[in-house]
Amino acid sequence: MKIGILTGGGDCPGLNAVIRGVVRKGIFHYDDEFVGFLEGWRGVVENKTTPLDLEAVAGILQRGGTILRTSRTNPAKREGGIDRCLKTLAANKLDALIAIGGDDTIGVAVKMFERGFKVVGCPKTIDNDLSGTDLCFGFDTAVMIATEAIDRLHSTAESHNRVIVCEVMGRGSGWIAIYSGIAGGADAILIPEKPFDIDAVAATLKRQHARGRNYSIVVVAEGAKFAAKVDQTGALVVQALGKDEFGHERLGGVGQVLALELEKRTGYETRAVVLGHTQRGGTPTAFDRVLATRYGIGAIDMVHKGEFGKMVALRGTEIVSVPLADAINVNRTVDEKLIAVAESLQEEPNHRPRPTVKKT
Ligand code: F6P
Repeated sequence: MKIGILTGGGDCPGLNAVIRGVVRKGIFHYDDEFVGFLEGWRGVVENKTTPLDLEAVAGILQRGGTILRTSRTNPAKREGGIDRCLKTLAANKLDALIAIGGDDTIGVAVKMFERGFKVVGCPKTIDNDLSGTDLCFGFDTAVMIATEAIDRLHSTAESHNRVIVCEVMGRGSGWIAIYSGIAGGADAILIPEKPFDIDAVAATLKRQHARGRNYSIVVVAEGAKFAAKVDQTGALVVQALGKDEFGHERLGGVGQVLALELEKRTGYETRAVVLGHTQRGGTPTAFDRVLATRYGIGAIDMVHKGEFGKMVALRGTEIVSVPLADAINVNRTVDEKLIAVAESLQEEPNHRPRPTVKKT
């Protein structure tokens, strides 16, 4: 078969491992031929391609980013965009397309499938918030990077008696924040699932400092919101940079606002650190390389089983296929049990610690 591959949306450690898995299994086991579309759906709209053979995928397993590059181009937002995509796929005499991406990329794949093209999806996002699958590759790497950063923030915060607010990615769900926050021993973890009360966060830090800990670490997801209060609107903190073609506003900045508000309420010197795209860059962890490879192999097997209009997914420990539509429109949020784990590590507001018995 002749198969197209594209990577769309934000990049993610492990994308190259998926591409390599698809191409190696496709060539070695099915005698397939591959065409890579450059820069996501833009490459399909504009017919920008690159050959994808064994040589092209050699040595890419450990490389971050995507050799096909990526974009947030949405063909559905362009005049005749979907028709142009269908024309490109026909012109390249493709039998099928594997679209690797998040909510938006998969959303376009659904539209192509509805127009009769054979599409298989592969889920991707460091945010780990795609429904239809239990785990996305790239998430483990992002958590590892964020945890290492939090570890480093501990020592500098302690040396200066400071509060440090560490802002991590996570638009609609706080998976990176809660995992890295628990792993990094954060004193407060703020996620989009639970709008936070700034006074309660300040009180937590004050109790901690009253016990003799002279510093604190707060981890906040970029999509976390202040609970609506007299002086706060409860709205997302966004950068005034407009929206992308899928209608997403650029988030970022909640860490800075939070730091100012905490300093005001506690009197403790507070700094904000935004990890931003460092969480998406660089080499994937071994775990993500294996997961991404399994996704790639699952996707090419699905093409040969004729499972179109579906997406490769991880359910429990098994690679399975699920309808493409399962992946879109609903955010997979952090589950309550994990939130309960994080909350169990915080002191209850009414808790009175026993006085320490001094040794004589
Ligand atoms: O990949 C998802 C994500 O990491 C979000 O958490 C974040 O808001 C967004 O991408 C930012 O991506 P970009 O700056 O590339 O638009």
